[in-house]
Amino acid sequence: MPAVRTVVVTGSASGLGAAVCERLAARGTRLIGVDLAGADIEADLAVPAGRSAAMNAVLEASGGAIDGLVACAGVGPHMSDTSLISSVNYFGAVHIIDGLRPALAGGLEPAAVAIASNSLSLVPMHDLSLVDAMLAGNEVEAARLAAELPGATVYGMSKLALARAIRHRASAWGKAGIRLNAVAPGPVLTPLLQASLDDPELGPLVDALPVPLDRRAEPGEIAATVDFLLGPDASFVHGAVLFADGGTDALVRPDQP
Ligand code: NAI
Repeated sequence: MPAVRTVVVTGSASGLGAAVCERLAARGTRLIGVDLAGADIEADLAVPAGRSAAMNAVLEASGGAIDGLVACAGVGPHMSDTSLISSVNYFGAVHIIDGLRPALAGGLEPAAVAIASNSLSLVPMHDLSLVDAMLAGNEVEAARLAAELPGATVYGMSKLALARAIRHRASAWGKAGIRLNAVAPGPVLTPLLQASLDDPELGPLVDALPVPLDRRAEPGEIAATVDFLLGPDASFVHGAVLFADGGTDALVRPDQP
């Protein structure tokens, strides 16, 4: 009998996080879900106290060792409080990823996956002050800058910073034997996407973004990509930002890399 793996999923109550939980649970994986409500551990990842409470509760529930982590909790570009996009999507994710690294180090063939977004390449690249503040760990300055920018820009920048943070960790995490990757999805049919589509300003922009496969993804399709990155078939995949976006990134940036 193979050992039962324990995987922590933030944002487990809805959308992609729920789909990841469903897919892994069907294989007998032990899941520890973290979300604002409707999860094993209820915590607000927007604030330092909530992140600490979540990490302590994970350590208690797991006995101190976990085999996988999926940092999925996030808010969309439609939020009127744009600093919340910075605090949840970047700082909430990175603090949980870093905070649970020791627990992953005690796991079996450990791997972590962060959910970025293909919107990371759609931000105004001439001024990345917000991305820089995030990567410098300056949450107060990031909140200040975010409050002055449109939600779509803050959203894309939170995901660009998250993807860069994953790549910056490739060396140290690799040496520690923990694989760390990001997925950059395109539009996925979840409440988050629906809220953007319902927004009078954002909706037309989201609708106008071309997707070569000419459709939106089901959450289960992204869960399959996450499952691949967590599992043994991705044993040499590390520090990658995997676009699962129906081809939009290739269309927008055909010469990258
Ligand atoms: P969703 O709204 O269905 O699920 C997000 C979950 O995160 C919710 O359960 C919510 O309660 C939780 N969450 C939000 N703020 C939190 C906080 N402060 N503390 C703890 N939990 C919190 O959204 P969806 O679409 O499943 O999003 C999951 C991730 O995928 C997000 O990071 C999102 O940015 C990303 N993504 C989504 C895309 C889409 O088209 N749906 C496209 C690209 C990326």
